[in-house]
Amino acid sequence: MADITGSAEWSALAAHHDEIAGTSLRELFAADPGRAEAMTITAGDLALDCSKHRATAETLRLLTLLADRAGLRDRIEAMFSGAHVNVSEDRAVLHTALRLPPGSALTVDGQDVAGDVHAVLDRMAVFSERVRSGEWRGHTGETITTVVNIGIGGSDLGPAMAYEALRDYADLPGRPGERIAARFVSNVDPADITGVLAEADPARTLFVVSSKTFGTLETLTNARVARDWLVGRLGDEKAVARHFVAVSTNADRVADFGIDTGNMFGFWDWVGGRYSFDGAIGLSLMIAIGGERFREMLAGFHTIDEHFRTAPFEVNAPVVLGLLGVWYNDFFGAETRAVLPYSQRLARFPAYLQQLTMESNGKSVRADGTPVAAATGEIFWGEPGTNGQHAFYQLLHQGTRLVPADFIGFAEPFEDAAAGGPGMHDLLTANLLAQTSALAFGKTAAEIAAEGTPAAIVPHKVMPGNRPSTTILAPKLTPATLGQLVALYEHVVFVEGVIWGIDSFDQWGVELGKVMANDLVPALTSDAPPAELPDPSTAALVRRYRALRG
Ligand code: F6P
Repeated sequence: MADITGSAEWSALAAHHDEIAGTSLRELFAADPGRAEAMTITAGDLALDCSKHRATAETLRLLTLLADRAGLRDRIEAMFSGAHVNVSEDRAVLHTALRLPPGSALTVDGQDVAGDVHAVLDRMAVFSERVRSGEWRGHTGETITTVVNIGIGGSDLGPAMAYEALRDYADLPGRPGERIAARFVSNVDPADITGVLAEADPARTLFVVSSKTFGTLETLTNARVARDWLVGRLGDEKAVARHFVAVSTNADRVADFGIDTGNMFGFWDWVGGRYSFDGAIGLSLMIAIGGERFREMLAGFHTIDEHFRTAPFEVNAPVVLGLLGVWYNDFFGAETRAVLPYSQRLARFPAYLQQLTMESNGKSVRADGTPVAAATGEIFWGEPGTNGQHAFYQLLHQGTRLVPADFIGFAEPFEDAAAGGPGMHDLLTANLLAQTSALAFGKTAAEIAAEGTPAAIVPHKVMPGNRPSTTILAPKLTPATLGQLVALYEHVVFVEGVIWGIDSFDQWGVELGKVMANDLVPALTSDAPPAELPDPSTAALVRRYRALRG
């Protein structure tokens, strides 16, 4: 596999960057006032305005040639059809199969993938319905009012983010305003589980222990605490059967933990943890919003999958967004991308994207084990607008760094009427639009001086502009649009990974720390002098910790 940075396409982009880097967005819009229409891409219900990018039609043409050089079209097909694109683990990567419509056919490595996916989804839907309708009862005969998902990483961030996003859709059928609340416990910090248990009623709480491997320290520790709490409160070991279900690929470990595998919902090694909440890892979400809404979300995912698989690269939303990521990361030297949802319901979306993108593309060797030559792995971060505006946008507007940003907005609110009539949501959107415009076009010294600003103050007020952003606008935050948004970013990750030639689907970098933490536990907890420690700094910190802890 040739290093893409040595290709003629990469060199052409480098030369093009030198030509265009000095051109401002003001100049680009002056030269082509029709840019906004021309550079808006639609995918499903999402419209992506890419006109405020430091890019022209020629940039996009050169970027798509780079994608061709990297073999992107073939790589997409390879992923969708079940080739082992996760080379370091020799696995297929088939999260797209989790949202195949009913009746689809896909067999991979001898497994009826589509059939198995729908069998699990159907079981999840039946179980969720039993819990939602009150047919499923706790040990003492009470109905379930709270579901607690215990998991971490991909077994937490996806369902937690989506539950927050879709909580307005959680009413129980025929019982407006009545809902099953979902709570999420992830951290091994005892504050997390104790905080949730303090507010839970054991007789009415269902725990969903979610772990692909069922070997994750945090999850198993929290699950044991929850089980002891439940048994202690209800006074009967048998209560576990009515209050614990599991989601995992590892039935043996689920059984060892003491959960009946009849109450286990499975998935497969070809679903990466960070790509898994549209399958069984979404069980807590499905219990909260119901099977029908969950399937609407899956249909949203599938819409973007089809778009990604079939749309020409120049109008393919994940391809363009991914290539623009490479453009800024590798040619402009930008290191981060801000994701700024103008939706309180998407408060956890940046955190969710951090795992999706950074665990996937934070790699420094290529799939064949040779070092990468280009910078990889954009750093994703963000907060919902307008909160971010009053915190870090100062740096976005006037700082010395280039931070491309994705703004996400919706036309129709859910809550406006409840908040006392229309108006608040339009204020929110006005802020989104104002920010993207100010970032792109800024305000010159001459414009500021013309307002009567004293000369000494003018430099402080200059807004340099020329700061790129994508604006993603959708009609409304629904299960379907959420699925579309998530699939969009999943495929952005894929596009970038293909260009950089890395394996976006392993995560070896998280393993060493896990092993070392296990080894360190005895040093922190025993009274004996600590045995061998990994390094002098850690040894000193262990001594200090033990002295402070007493
Ligand atoms: O530590 C990283 C990781 O392996 C993630 O990739 C994964 O989502 C998370 O841990 C949780 O793993 P599991 O679902 O197996 O408990």
